[in-house]
Amino acid sequence: MNPHFELHLPRRPRRLRRSPAIRNLVEETTLTVNDLVAPLFVKDGFGPSESIASMPDQFRLNMDDLLRECEALLTLGVEAVGLFPQVDPGLKNSKATEATNEDNLVLRSVRLVKETFPDLVVITDVALDPYTDHGHDGVLDESGREVLNDPTVGILCQMAKQQAEAGVDFVAPSDMMDGRIGAIRDALDDAGHTHTSILAYSAKFASAYYGPFREAIGSAQAAGTHLLDKRTYQLNPANRREASLENQLDAAEGADILMVKPAGPYLDIIRDLRNNTELPIAAYQVSGEYSQIQAAAKLSWLDLEKCRDESLLSIKRAGADIILTYFAKAVAASL
Ligand code: PBG
Repeated sequence: MNPHFELHLPRRPRRLRRSPAIRNLVEETTLTVNDLVAPLFVKDGFGPSESIASMPDQFRLNMDDLLRECEALLTLGVEAVGLFPQVDPGLKNSKATEATNEDNLVLRSVRLVKETFPDLVVITDVALDPYTDHGHDGVLDESGREVLNDPTVGILCQMAKQQAEAGVDFVAPSDMMDGRIGAIRDALDDAGHTHTSILAYSAKFASAYYGPFREAIGSAQAAGTHLLDKRTYQLNPANRREASLENQLDAAEGADILMVKPAGPYLDIIRDLRNNTELPIAAYQVSGEYSQIQAAAKLSWLDLEKCRDESLLSIKRAGADIILTYFAKAVAASL
């Protein structure tokens, strides 16, 4: 090595990385608690909350713990939750009749949370998978092979109205049926719920990263596999233009917020969308993204906090305004 060797460079990017204060000045992306939504699993009955093996630190919460968790999140500055019910297997059937039961678990949870914390933003999924015995997001034709689009949308409209009635701020159609955003908007408006927003799972891919979620809510158990094939309605992971088409359709049909899901493996889709819409963008860091970081950290192969923060920052940098993440509480506590 020759210590006197010197390049004559007009640009030395390292000048702006010399100290923490300089790095802070030129930092482009900042994650804040305002960006975060915490997905929460809820269970029925009086039994204790249950841990979820593949999702460390996540629980199927009983009603008392659900309220405690909401309070803890609010205290940390996380002001939005998504509620996901684990429906009793005995209540599931091929027609998903429990989905529109006025007193079903998710509607009761929403009422309770909204009564207790009126300012907490509450989001609920509109899809049939927690309620079908086959685990699909829609009802099937007689052969049992096809997920029927329009009859499913009819049920989704009813679900959305009931969720709005129960007090949710956003209904979040996560089913990927065609035309559901427009139909749900009409149904909500006709019922006087003009203030209820639609957070559309617009670009939702047929992903293997949903595995732990399906275990968590028991839809895997219903389907007999956590890799149930949803490729006739969810997007092909290979398709970027098709994702753009789905986003455009949902925007045109009246979605208030568009969502990309999963998030980390689909950052290009988030960026495409950022460049092509003025609407707010949400991204869902799904169960498998959470579990893989947790699992590697458990083996001491990755640093949990650093990888968590980097994964979320990347999603924000790609263009997401809102991030649904199972890390919400832990990150909020660290910010
Ligand atoms: C249901 C739904 C799924 C997720 C959210 N809503 C699973 C699926 O479509 O099979 C996945 C969330 C996660 O993996 O964290 N439509």
